[in-house]
Amino acid sequence: MEIFDKVEEIKGQINAYTIDSVETLEAFRIQYLGTKNSIKPLFAEMRNVPNEQKKEFGQKLNELKVIAEARYEEVKAGIEQQSNKDAAASLDLFAPGSTLGQGTRHPVSIVMDRVISIFEKIGFSVAEEREIEDDWHNFTAMNTPEDHPARDMQDTFYLKTEVKSDIQRLLRTHTSSVQARVMENSKPPIRIIAPGRVYRNETISARSHCQFHQVEGLYIDKKASFADMKQTLLYYAREMYGPDTKIRLRPSYFPFTEPSAEMDVYWGLKTETDHKITKGTGWLEILGCGMVDPNVLKNCGIDPEEYTGFAFGMGIERQAMLQYKISDIRLLFENDVRFLNQFAAAK
Ligand code: DAH
Repeated sequence: MEIFDKVEEIKGQINAYTIDSVETLEAFRIQYLGTKNSIKPLFAEMRNVPNEQKKEFGQKLNELKVIAEARYEEVKAGIEQQSNKDAAASLDLFAPGSTLGQGTRHPVSIVMDRVISIFEKIGFSVAEEREIEDDWHNFTAMNTPEDHPARDMQDTFYLKTEVKSDIQRLLRTHTSSVQARVMENSKPPIRIIAPGRVYRNETISARSHCQFHQVEGLYIDKKASFADMKQTLLYYAREMYGPDTKIRLRPSYFPFTEPSAEMDVYWGLKTETDHKITKGTGWLEILGCGMVDPNVLKNCGIDPEEYTGFAFGMGIERQAMLQYKISDIRLLFENDVRFLNQFAAAK
């Protein structure tokens, strides 16, 4: 019967089909396995096949499908194997590897590390302490009792006390709290710096943030003097800002020091920006300092009759912003890699 010959003919075509590329493989798939394949119309012929031959015819048609599928899978596997081989052959084992992206140091860390190494050179060691402090070490021991008006100078994040306890915990508002801890735990002479993060409940803007970094300094000995402090701070300013840097001390007030001062460095008035950031004076405040108040020594177990000391505290973000001409403090806390990558070469 003619229709059986047709099946045989297609079978012959499937076996003889030249498949030698991805394109011919696809053409084969469309021709014999696609939605409009040439086996399909034969199924419609079923109704013209005499009943006693229907079964045989059906089997032959299915066989066609199976053959086409097998051929397709076989050639496909061969082509894939070949292309893997080609890829392996073109793999250059001696090509230089792609470089791994290295992180960069954060400008705050860069400045902080410089401050630390400047003071380490003259014998200060690093003291680190907790960021969750209690009221005593942050305020009261530092001569700032509860009703002291100076508490308003720093807006504080207080922690909720869950267990019944009389200890009020807070996020330290300054690294001066480390002074109290160090004095309690060690005997003079004391010569430490305390770098770290501090928190204040302030509205975030281009100029202020609710978190920032400070480096505290504390020097206690038998005859520590205001002159020692001034010389130490002059040394710092010249190491940090260049050998010709000028400083000035302005009288100020802090509860924990008496007398107290603020230190300015001479920034200059060369450019318009210099005028802007120094408010036309050429001077820039970088730290607070003073002679440790005898009350503080007493609170922390050191005899003020025997010992005197000086202390200072400086902000790090401010100095980083000056050095790298960063106009918005928020950039320092957003961790935007486009910003941070600019410090790849900074030391
Ligand atoms: N703790 C002060 C502040 O955060 C800074 C300061 C001033 C620290 C004078 C000192 C100091 O040790 O003597 O504003």
